[in-house]
Amino acid sequence: MKILVVHGPNLNLLGKREPHIYGTVTLDEINGRLTALAKELGTDVSCFQSNHEGELVQKIQDAMGQYQAIVINPGAYTHTSVALRDAIASTGILAVEVHLSNIYRREEFRKHSYISGVAAGQITGFGPESYLLGLRAAVQAVRSAAGQ
Ligand code: DQA
Repeated sequence: MKILVVHGPNLNLLGKREPHIYGTVTLDEINGRLTALAKELGTDVSCFQSNHEGELVQKIQDAMGQYQAIVINPGAYTHTSVALRDAIASTGILAVEVHLSNIYRREEFRKHSYISGVAAGQITGFGPESYLLGLRAAVQAVRSAAGQ
């Protein structure tokens, strides 16, 4: 099984970016933890980050036929991007939406996600652990859809 992890805008700055909200763990560290967990779960993971909406859309389109699930933190595009939502819906690949912070405890504009309506589920508020829970959820959902 191959899982794609997609990180949206500004997540390349994790570790330095608003550490009181997002913590001090870097994106490389998160990707390292995901790779280690994937190995433990007997699956493959690839990680991709972009600050550009079109690149994120393209990556999701290119995942068709290549990956069985996507774990995505769309960053600020969560709250703005119909294009990302449509890309996920168009590919039909199972997607798990994750956020480091609890988007429902923050500003009003963060409480709406364009992605949640096309995601299998959402994990929000557990810091870097959100990604690991997201990976576990994605692997389990793909396996149960395959009757395993
Ligand atoms: C975020 C939450 C978003 O509202 C914000 O724009 C981000 C990060 C999170 O992981 O908590 O960039 O997706």
